[in-house]
Amino acid sequence: MPEICLRWMDNFEVGIDDLDEDHRYMCRQINTICEAIAAGDMEVVPRELSAFVDFAAAHIERETRVLTALDPRRVFAADTAVDRLKPISDLAVRFNRGEQDVAEVPTELVDWFCRQTIDHDAVIRSRFHRRSSTACLR
Ligand SMILES: [Fe+2]
Repeated sequence: MPEICLRWMDNFEVGIDDLDEDHRYMCRQINTICEAIAAGDMEVVPRELSAFVDFAAAHIERETRVLTALDPRRVFAADTAVDRLKPISDLAVRFNRGEQDVAEVPTELVDWFCRQTIDHDAVIRSRFHRRSSTACLR
């Protein structure tokens, strides 16, 4: 039975198809990592973790462009994007060094997804008059 650590919910949607598809993809990536951890497949975990960090970096760049287009007066600085990525890039580094408790990886990824991805997108969601409450409460 696959290990699902983050179940996609419709209230994650921000109303912009490209970003919503990115978020769905990251949700699937997190679950792939969780499945590999549950199966004890420690060859798959670092590869998928690295792919997740790379995709998240590209997503944050895309999202920054969208936010800037929505609100040109507000500055979305590049260092903010680095800060947003840091928890999972640090997690991948710790994992590759053997310094990360593997059992904590799923929670770290889900927490990051909820705090740095979904919650961050409240600004987009509010612009589209979609659900504006915190979407990731479980
Ligand atoms: Fe996002």
